[in-house]
Amino acid sequence: MHFIYTNKTRDETRDMAQLTHKVPANLHQEPLVTSAPSHIRVLDNTYLTDDYTNLTSSISSKLSRRLHGLEGHPISTLRCIIESHFPDFTHISSLSPIVTPYQNFDSLSFPADHPGRAKTDSYYINRNAMLRTHTSAHEGTERWLLTADVYRRDEIDASHYPVFHQMEGAKIFGSDASSVENIEQESQRLERQLALSNIDIEDVPHVSETNPAQTSHDVRSSEVTAKNLKLHLNSLMYKLFADVAGTSKDDPLRVRWIEAYFPFTSPSYEVEVFFRGKWLEILGCGVVLQSTLDRAGVANKMGWAFGLGLERIAMILYSIPDIRLFWSEDPRFLSQFTHGKIDAFKPYSKYPASYRDISFWKPNHDMHENDLYDVVRDVAGDLVEDVTIIDRFTHPKTQRHSLTVRVSYRSFDRSLVNDEVNILQHRVISGLERLGVEIR
Ligand code: PHE
Repeated sequence: MHFIYTNKTRDETRDMAQLTHKVPANLHQEPLVTSAPSHIRVLDNTYLTDDYTNLTSSISSKLSRRLHGLEGHPISTLRCIIESHFPDFTHISSLSPIVTPYQNFDSLSFPADHPGRAKTDSYYINRNAMLRTHTSAHEGTERWLLTADVYRRDEIDASHYPVFHQMEGAKIFGSDASSVENIEQESQRLERQLALSNIDIEDVPHVSETNPAQTSHDVRSSEVTAKNLKLHLNSLMYKLFADVAGTSKDDPLRVRWIEAYFPFTSPSYEVEVFFRGKWLEILGCGVVLQSTLDRAGVANKMGWAFGLGLERIAMILYSIPDIRLFWSEDPRFLSQFTHGKIDAFKPYSKYPASYRDISFWKPNHDMHENDLYDVVRDVAGDLVEDVTIIDRFTHPKTQRHSLTVRVSYRSFDRSLVNDEVNILQHRVISGLERLGVEIR
C-alpha cells in the first residue's frame, strides 16, 4: 500500500495559512511531500520507520498539548470532577501515549483480525510502537483512575477528531470470601445513597446467557462485582448529568444499561444517558477478563473496569458545538472557563467557512477513506472543519469508482482568504494524487 509522509510541521501549516494575499509564484514548486524518511522523531525519541509507519506530523504535533492537564480547560475540569468521585483511587494522568501493539491489543485478548489493529484505523510509529487507541492499554491492577489522550484514525466533522481523551477506572480486589463481602458492604452503602437521587435506571441482568460470567468466576462473585460497578457508575452519571439532562427539576435523569461485548471483559455493558430526546452512549465497562489480570501478575483477584470519552461528555456539559474547539488557543475560548466550574460556552462570532469540491477516480488498489481524511488533516490541520463524501459513482463499463468530496475550511481565529484556501486545496489534491487517485 502506498503510504504518505510529509515533513511539514503544524507550525509550518499555520505560517502557510497566515499568508494573506500572497500566493507563491509557482505553486508547483512547493515542497509538499518527500519520500518516507528512515527515522521519525516522536516526543523526543527517534524511531525507525517501516511499512507500518503512518503517523503524520499533524497528529504528532498534538502529543505534547496535554489538554487534560491544562488548568481551567474543560477537559481538565471534567477530569477533576470525575476524580473527585473516586477519592480513594490512585489518579494517574501522565503516561506516555506510545505503547506497543501488545499492550494496546494482545494483553487485552483482541483477536488477531480485530479491525482496530489495522493501519487504516490506528496510528503506528512502526510495527512495534503505536499511539494508544484507548486507555485500556494500561489496564490498572488495583483501584486506579487514568486520564489520557488516545488516537484513532477517523472521519472529519464536528464530533470526530483523531485525538480525544479517555478516563479508565479499574477496581481490582481479592476473590476470597472476605474481600467479596467487603465489596458487598460498600455496594449497600452506595445503594442507599443512590436511593436518594432522582434517577431512573433501565437495567439489564448482571449476568445472563448472552453476557456470561467467566468460566473461572462463580456466578455470585461475578454478580457482586457487576453490581458494584453499576452503582459506582450510576452515581457518577448522576453527578455529571443530573443538572443538565432533565427538562425540569422534577424530571429524573434517565440512564440505561445495555449488554455489550469487549474482548477483555465479561460480562460487559454500555451505559447511555437520555439527553435532549436522544440516548447518548457514554461509556463501556465490564468485569475484567481473568487472563488480563493473570498477564498483569494479579492472579487470585477479580474486578471491574470502565472507559469513558471526555470530549463527548464535555460537549454536552459545556454546550461546546464543535470538537475542534477543545484544541483552540484563542483566548476567546480559553478565557471563558474557570478551573473546577462548568459554565455554558458562549459562542463568539464565527468566521465564514469556505468549501471546495473534488471529484476523483479511486485507485485500482484499495484506498481506505481514512487515508483521504489524513491527507486533508495533514495539509490543513485545524483549518478543516468537515469532509463529506457528497457523491459516489461506479462507471458502468469500467467499474471504476468515483468519489466527490466536499472539504469545508474554517478558522476559529480569523477569516480565510480565497487564495490561501486555494493553496490548501491544491495541496490536498497533490496529496490525493500521491495516494494514486485520478482527479476528474
Ligand atoms: N476501551 C473501551 C473503548 O475504548 C472501553 C472499555 C474500558 C470497555 C474498560 C470495557 C472496560 O471502547
